[in-house]
Parts: sequence; structure tokens; C-alpha cells
Amino acid sequence: MNEEYSLTNLPDLKSLKAKNYDQVPEKERPQIKTIGILTSGGDAPGMNASIRAVVRAAGHFGIKVFGITRGFHGLWKGEFDEIGTRQVSETLQRGGTFLMTARSKTFETPEGVVKGAQMCKVFGVEVLIVIGGDGSYCGARDLARIGIPVIGLPGTIDNDIACTEYTIGYDTAMNTAMEAIDKLRDTASSHERCSVIEVMGRRAGYIALNVGIATGAEVVLIPELPVDFERDVIRTILACRNMGKRHYIVIVAEGVGDATDIATRIEEATGIEARPTILGHLQRGGSPTLRDRLMASLMGIRAVECVRQGKLNRLVVYRNGEISDVDIEKGLQMKKTIKAEEMDRSKYLL
Ligand code: F6P
Repeated sequence: MNEEYSLTNLPDLKSLKAKNYDQVPEKERPQIKTIGILTSGGDAPGMNASIRAVVRAAGHFGIKVFGITRGFHGLWKGEFDEIGTRQVSETLQRGGTFLMTARSKTFETPEGVVKGAQMCKVFGVEVLIVIGGDGSYCGARDLARIGIPVIGLPGTIDNDIACTEYTIGYDTAMNTAMEAIDKLRDTASSHERCSVIEVMGRRAGYIALNVGIATGAEVVLIPELPVDFERDVIRTILACRNMGKRHYIVIVAEGVGDATDIATRIEEATGIEARPTILGHLQRGGSPTLRDRLMASLMGIRAVECVRQGKLNRLVVYRNGEISDVDIEKGLQMKKTIKAEEMDRSKYLL
């Protein structure tokens, strides 16, 4: 941590920028001997595979790893414990995160960030690897701004981190949702009902859109695109009934609104019985799919490669079919959204 900051001299985090190591000649970059790793925000299947990859790859290069429990909460409380390469055995296939996670309010304050940085100094952690989503990345960036180098790994089922096309946990969550919706379709068809299913995604509709295509949903509602309820929902369902369909699957991304209200509106307007189901946290659990294990492992290795090269304050990303890394300040300024054309294409399948 930069010496000038302390609990009595707090940083103005907004006015600072994380050091961009692209501008540091390779020979002058630090040689890192000790790193810390934590998982933060909502857990995601594959987080364990990432921790394992970081621990094993770091061990390969003689870098010591401290596991930090309960995310940033454990960071500022000093919950650091060294992890050896054998201690990550049997974690690859396990859902959740064995380091546990939390959403730390304290870490949203300069005091929390300074306390976290001080704990890194206490344990000799020179670089912190943070596995999490956008919110966790903001915490990592704040640490970087006061001189604790960081590397971010994208871990969230929502796939809503702008600088990367893929986030760890996304594939497993979509598969879990798909399997549940296939089951709901069986019962909806038997009763000629409408099944309104709310999927996770916070303010993003990536899970909803792709699961909708994969399950042959009649309607998908996502927060990125406006909806004309009469035309896009009611008329579509009635048109599907008139063409002889026996079930009506409506997928609602949680950022759109309440599935129960939507089911009531559909039933009132169409006379077709509608039943809401909120898949909820079910989507966050379970053994990671092959894709998540692979991406989590390769991204973990990339994080250690960045550490080895002294390429710090980076976010590991998947772009254009390759795993690479971007500067944390630049990565957090990027934006991504779902385009209307992507949504329109799914309507060809009705
Ligand atoms: O970011 C992952 C996520 O599962 C979102 O899809 C969801 O909105 C949120 O976390 C739920 O958070 P919590 O587990 O804190 O209720």
C-alpha cells in the first residue's frame, strides 16, 4: 500500500488510478513471491476450479499462496491461511467456493479498503487475486488504486462483465436452468398451461436469452430490451395456441419483474392457466460443467502467468476465442448489452 494512506489519512478513491503495468518495462516489473486469493460476491460453479488452478500453477513456480476466507470481509479481518497444492485436491468438481464468499459493505468504504490493504502487508501478500463479478472488481480496483496490485478472474453466473465474453459459472447455471425448464415443460404440456419461469441474471438477460433458445421458450423477457406486453406476450401466446401448441414457456429475467405478477397478467388476458416458478439460487449450485471447469482452470493459469510476468492490475478475460487480460481501469469502463437483433432471431424458432 502507498505509505501515505492510513485510517487517519484516508484516500479519495475516486481521484486515484491503478498503476498500468503495460507502461512499466518488463525488467522493472516486480518479482512476486507471495499472492493472496479470495472469492467474492455470489458464488459460481467453477470458482473452486479456479482457486485450484491458481494454487497449483503458483506452486509450480514456487509462489506461496494465502487463501482468504469470506471475500473482502475476511480480507479486512485478516482471515489469511496458506494453501498448499495438495490442499486443493478434490475441489475441481465441487460447486460453491471452499474459501466461502460474502458481500462486504465495509469494503465499499475507504476505511475498509485501507484495512484490507494493511492486512495484505501484515501477511506479506504482494498481489491479490479476486474471483468475482463487477462489484468485486470495483473492490479490487480500489485496492489497486492505493497500491495493492490485483488480478481479477470473472466469476459470476450472470455473464454480465463487459470486458469478457465469458464468466465462470455461466455455463453450469444455464444448464441447471435448462434442465429445470425441460421438466416444467412436461407438466405445462400435460395441462396445456403457461409456465412463467424467472431466471437469475441481476440486471442482465444473458441467462434468460440463451436458456430461452435452448428450451424453445415462446417468450423471453430481458431487462435490456423494452417489451410491449400486449403484442410481445399476450398476442404471441395466443398465436402459439392458435397454431396448435400445447404449452407456453415464458422466461423472465429477474431484472424485468416478478414472475408471479406476470403469470397473473397472462392468465387474466388469455384465459390460459399460468403458473410461476422462480428458479432462484438453485442456478448457483451444482458441480461445474466441463466448460466451466476448463475456463476456470485456464483463466486461473493465466492469472498466475500475469503474476509471473509482473503484469499486474489486470482482469483475465475471454475475447475472440482466446483467454487474455486487460488493464483493470480500462476493463471496468467497458460496456456490453444484448442487441434487439439477437432477441429477434430467437423468434424465428416459434
Ligand atoms: O450475481 C449472481 C446472482 O446470483 C444474481 O444473478 C442475483 O441477482 C444475485 O446474485 C443474488 O444475490 P444473493 O445471493 O445475495 O441473493
